[in-house]
Amino acid sequence: MSPTTDFVSWFRSVAPYIHAFRGKVFVIGFSGEMITDAKFVNFIHDINLLASLGVRLVLVHGARPQIQLRLDESQLETQTVMGMRVTDPAALQCVKESVGRVHHEIAALLSMGLPNSPMANASIRVTSGNFVTACPQGVIQGVDLMHTGKVRKINAQAIHSRLEQGDVVLISPLGYSPTGEIFNLTMENVATEVAIALNAEKLIFLLDMLDDTAAASEVDKSTALPRELTVAESKLLLENKTPATKPLVPDAIRPSLQYATKACEMGVARTHLISRHNDGAILQELFTHHGIGTMISRETLQALRKARIEDVGGILQLIEPLEAEGILVRRGRELLEIEIDRFTVLEHDGIILGCAALYPFPEEHACELACLAIHPDYRDFGHGNRLLKHIENQTISQGIHVLFVLTTHATHWFIEHGFTVATPAELPKVKQNLYNYQRRSKVLIKHL
Ligand SMILES: CC(C)(COP(=O)(O)OP(=O)(O)OC[C@H]1O[C@@H](n2cnc3c(N)ncnc32)[C@H](O)[C@@H]1OP(=O)(O)O)[C@@H](O)C(=O)NCCC(=O)NCCS
Repeated sequence: MSPTTDFVSWFRSVAPYIHAFRGKVFVIGFSGEMITDAKFVNFIHDINLLASLGVRLVLVHGARPQIQLRLDESQLETQTVMGMRVTDPAALQCVKESVGRVHHEIAALLSMGLPNSPMANASIRVTSGNFVTACPQGVIQGVDLMHTGKVRKINAQAIHSRLEQGDVVLISPLGYSPTGEIFNLTMENVATEVAIALNAEKLIFLLDMLDDTAAASEVDKSTALPRELTVAESKLLLENKTPATKPLVPDAIRPSLQYATKACEMGVARTHLISRHNDGAILQELFTHHGIGTMISRETLQALRKARIEDVGGILQLIEPLEAEGILVRRGRELLEIEIDRFTVLEHDGIILGCAALYPFPEEHACELACLAIHPDYRDFGHGNRLLKHIENQTISQGIHVLFVLTTHATHWFIEHGFTVATPAELPKVKQNLYNYQRRSKVLIKHL
């Protein structure tokens, strides 16, 4: 394909995501480390792009390394209890200064509008406020954590009203109490509670630690996480209850995974853990079907189900290239709409990955399997086998025990799945009359 065709087909392929994301609330949490990175400005460009596509964005930033630097400059030592820093009044001063500085730097970057840059013509309105009510962590293991706190309440209505006005909401890891005190919170805690309170479509954490090299595989390398997890699977992983062959959750990722799982359990549709080191990571995760990080959802995203009329477009996208190559017999949209009840589809997160149709010939006690297709990017994962098994069960449930298929390119695949080569004369009479001798498809039959 030429670069132009590539571009056009790529641009078209993102259209469903653009439609799906418009008007939806995404909460994006990123660490203080990310802000110091040279690539941070690219991330801001991506945020600008998402905002211009109508995504309602809430950004929650961290400031851990900046706080540490400020504490070091002031030669202040702080105690840590169970991974949490004790924030005494002197440390709180450093926290306020660092968080304030980081917050303003992000707001400044989001305000850019230089010509000849992705921010040209952008006019993002950034808004902040006292959206987070906090309370103290209290005394843990006999140590008073003082100004180290946790989220108590989120003013969701106030955030929603800013988002409705088209603002990007920027939230820091500081919270305020009704007694007028300030509390030092974690970015993960704030982002999670904000996402839950807003009933967000997505909570996205950009992390420091996922293994970038794992991006290409279905299941990441030993230190990283599977591409997709349900809440139940994530909990098993966190409890280290999965088989020994499965990866353990690295300590650095554990808190984010815990928060991400909680968010999903509490109603956020999807949470994503993405490596911050990949340029354009957020776009890759959101606008490609593969994604590059780990996505957590309440239920499994894959379903083998009866096709519905709304699936016609997805099925056509899948089979048209195969029809053009002569691998499948051409079916127009109209015929597909009429015969949609005969189809079973394999859907993954709203995308049709595979399909198959079953045509019964009851008088001759046989069924035809037709139009079995798996998207080329998802072959060799056993999906074809799953669809075939499903079709075989459908055949048996109709009291029929003979399944046949006509194929030009997948003869060996069917033979390996128990079919034997037959002749057109063995087909049901009606089918024999329709047999296309020019196409010379192979006839394969399986007795179930
Ligand atoms: C045939 C098809 C449905 C298989 O789907 P799939 O999801 O890749 O199948 P599975 O994962 O269950 O099986 C993969 C195995 O089949 C093999 N295989 C895939 N296509 C094959 C073919 N055309 N001929 C022989 N073997 C094939 C793979 O090499 C793999 O073998 P392995 O397990 O030894 O590595 C898919 O290749 C396809 O859509 N083909 C184009 C449409 C078509 O020809 N349909 C049949 C006419 S109705």
